[in-house]
Amino acid sequence: MSTITFRRPDDWHVHLRDGAMLQAVLPFTARVFARAIIMPNLVPPVTTAAAAAAYRDRILAALPAGLGFTPLMTAYLTDDSDANEIEQGHRAGVFTAVKLYPAGATTNSALGVTDIAKTYPALERLQALGIPLLVHGEVIDSEVDIFDREAVFIERVLAPLMRRLPQLRLVLEHITTKEAVDFVGGAGPGLAATITAHHLLINRNALFAGGLRPHMYCLPVAKREKHRLALRRAATSGNAKFFLGTDTAPHPIPDKERDFGCAGIFTAPAALEIYAQVFAEEGALDRLEAFASLNGPRFYGLPVNEQRITLAHRPWRVPDEIPTEAGPLRPFLAGEEIGWRIEG
Ligand code: NCD
Ligand code: ZN
Repeated sequence: MSTITFRRPDDWHVHLRDGAMLQAVLPFTARVFARAIIMPNLVPPVTTAAAAAAYRDRILAALPAGLGFTPLMTAYLTDDSDANEIEQGHRAGVFTAVKLYPAGATTNSALGVTDIAKTYPALERLQALGIPLLVHGEVIDSEVDIFDREAVFIERVLAPLMRRLPQLRLVLEHITTKEAVDFVGGAGPGLAATITAHHLLINRNALFAGGLRPHMYCLPVAKREKHRLALRRAATSGNAKFFLGTDTAPHPIPDKERDFGCAGIFTAPAALEIYAQVFAEEGALDRLEAFASLNGPRFYGLPVNEQRITLAHRPWRVPDEIPTEAGPLRPFLAGEEIGWRIEG
């Protein structure tokens, strides 16, 4: 098969940032995806409906003419999030979902949740209203090995939360482990997971291949090969619980290539193309539409897109560097060849 046409996809996990960076990176997402779940980890974080509506307006204002794209906004959950504010923002059509960052887990998560018990009133309201909670699933306990933080989170936080609020709709974001695949696969229909393009391609060796590789560093960090293989099986299985979320997370090159370098991989310039390559390698191109375009809307209770997108098996090279007003960016797989390309 040398071309594939399917419903236009959505990206269920995107960092668009703000200002000059937003201006620079938005076209890479909007050229491909009809809708995206927009992460709220700005500085300061997007905690109110007014802030989310203003951010949505800035995104729409930054959109290149002629590109149809709908940003789906999220509220950043804090220890003292107000359930009424979330409810009103949801009823006003501003908040599609709420994002839980354990405090200190990742980029701009300092104001995240320090103790999940503090958020029970808000989470009970989400459950009552059917608003999805999107979870960065890592414990921040420094005693726990960084490669175990997702698996330990499932055991210590997620499973007890699901027992307490069994009807809460949950997305375990950017899963990286076989434990997560098995847990999500074995749970009821209220729990789903997103899978990034980069976690389907790299294992933790990539962080050290030939030297320290900051552009391969993101959170949750890539794990052993057996986990990557489990993620590939899950993504290509056709199981409706797994869907596309790139976690494209741009940082200027100087912020990546320094001591205490930032976590985040900028995949938007080649994300759908990478997923297509992975599905082709797994002999599962016929399931790419479910993963990219059907399973997400089904979980979120949104209509599927009516437009179509076509990819062809025609190699191209990812640029080495993308200059922007906010500083240069190094895309994932910079300088490397990708087998699939978007034709229209
Ligand atoms: C994200 C970012 O840079 O905002 N970084 C990352 O490594 N994925 C935050 C996140 O989603 O964890
Ligand atoms: Zn993210």
